Amino acid sequence: MAEKSFSELYKEWEEKTRELLKKYPEQRDRFETLSGIPVKRLYTPPTMTSAELEKIGFPGEYPYTRGIRPTMYRSRHWTMRQYAGFGSADETNRRFRYLLEQGQTGLSVAFDLPTQIGYDSDDPMAQGEVGKVGVAIDSLEDMERLLAGIPLDKVSTSMTINAPASILLAMYIAVGEKQGVPPEKLTGTIQNDILKEYIARGTYIFPPQPSMRLITDIFAYCAEKVPKWNTISISGYHIREAGSTAVQEVAFTLADGIAYVEAARKAGLDVDRFAPRLSFFFNAHNHFFEEVAKFRAARRLWARIMKERFGAKDPRSLQLRFHTQTGGSTLTAQQPDNNIVRVTLQALAAVLGGTQSLHTNARDEALALPTEESARIALRTQQILAFESGITYTVDPLGGSYFVESLTDDMEAKALEYIERIDEMGGAVAAVEQGFMQREIHQAALETQRRIETGEEVVVGVNRFRLDHEKEPQLYKVDPALAREQVARLQALRQKRDSQQVEYALTELKQRAAGSDNLMPAIVDAVKAYATVGEICHALREVFGEYQAV
Ligand code: 3HC
Repeated sequence: MAEKSFSELYKEWEEKTRELLKKYPEQRDRFETLSGIPVKRLYTPPTMTSAELEKIGFPGEYPYTRGIRPTMYRSRHWTMRQYAGFGSADETNRRFRYLLEQGQTGLSVAFDLPTQIGYDSDDPMAQGEVGKVGVAIDSLEDMERLLAGIPLDKVSTSMTINAPASILLAMYIAVGEKQGVPPEKLTGTIQNDILKEYIARGTYIFPPQPSMRLITDIFAYCAEKVPKWNTISISGYHIREAGSTAVQEVAFTLADGIAYVEAARKAGLDVDRFAPRLSFFFNAHNHFFEEVAKFRAARRLWARIMKERFGAKDPRSLQLRFHTQTGGSTLTAQQPDNNIVRVTLQALAAVLGGTQSLHTNARDEALALPTEESARIALRTQQILAFESGITYTVDPLGGSYFVESLTDDMEAKALEYIERIDEMGGAVAAVEQGFMQREIHQAALETQRRIETGEEVVVGVNRFRLDHEKEPQLYKVDPALAREQVARLQALRQKRDSQQVEYALTELKQRAAGSDNLMPAIVDAVKAYATVGEICHALREVFGEYQAV
């Protein structure tokens, strides 16, 4: 059959888009510049060769280079989802409500390190860290306080939790049920990406195999009971923060993604059963065009991997949906107001790269957790981009640029080279165990540091344009009383809960962990009995042991 002409394909795309607009209408009747010049939904050359169509195509169509949805931000802005969490559940609940009142459209929970590595607030290992870099969550009671007054049928919540992800997900489900929201109505994401923890971030607990089992148990459980929940946020953010290049960020993240898909298929799951709920998380760094090209290359590469390597059929399995956080490591302690400009440029790159959700860093985060004021300015940055800049009026505005398309091709090719090398090593888990990605990242970090120290790479205010002296910024301070109050609450909980029920639930969990059953039901039962994060993790440590870094 003769190939369809470009204009026929364009007409077909317009027809499909008209269909979709019934469910997701565009936010304005007319999109025009401030001078009244109409802005079209999509700009393309008069025609495209089949090679160009195969590489660039249309937004909302394979390989999704121009975005995963035909109308993108014309129908719905990206979710403004500011990472927040510190001290107690009550204090963090107040910040959540404040940010929602100021117009943010999704929640993102930062947990303190004891929670992230499975220790209760009264564990000696937690000393000095309770409520410090995130909120302390020991039990379902804390989770109820964290989410008090927040309608879980209306707000989607991301939880940056990895090794104990199953436990915090179980708590979220339990809070939903207490609010009268059934699991199938819950929307949100758990990060649940243990491989990048071994590679770059460090909040792992168990060895790779049991960790991968917990992750695929969550895939299977959510596919059946929590179908709108994004079961993993495969992260490149921390890989980049550890010093990787943009190419390594894409390559290592997608290599991790491949490992998760393979693990899920090995666990007997059909790819289209779980792949639509995989999500991603990338950094937005300083080189503007490289970042835009990075996002476009990642989307196309993932679509090709899912279609060609895993035979996925459901279009949603091929669509790389991602959250972006602007690059924390680019923030400077010097002249912190300059960081507002850096964050704006990085957020602009994320939006022009087609992000679904965005966190903008606050100007003081190189020094401390954000104050209410600096968190508000960070959110306002997104709102100015969304509501004042006009960049949402047309889909993929940089698409077709000679530079951006060429850079997108180069990024994809270089990332693919890395993925092929990792395949030869036996995949991402093997590469992590051999320390390959860690070495590559450290090498890149050293090279960056050398360029900054020689002045080859300018960091304004740091190695050029410095000030002789600077005024002290107002910084957030964690109240030390919060840790004591958290410990007191936890000990009171232990007194009032049914300790026999807790004991039974933990014993049941250990027995299942020693077998091959899906662990989520037993974890949900333990959480509902008010077993704590530390108790559940200790039960699993008894069976799985702990990971020892290479
Ligand atoms: N046309 C049609 N449908 C549209 C649309 C459009 N233009 N725009 C949106 N929609 C629909 C979507 O289909 C979706 O419905 P569905 O879930 O049924 O498909 C709904 O509207 C919501 O849209 P999105 O899914 O695009 O947006 P979300 O915000 O809900 O989800 C995500 C985005 C990336 C898929 C999700 O995984 C997410 O929110 N991730 C956030 C992760 C995060 O915040 N991480 C923070 C980590 S902090 C950290 O680790 C750093 C620390 O360590 C320093």
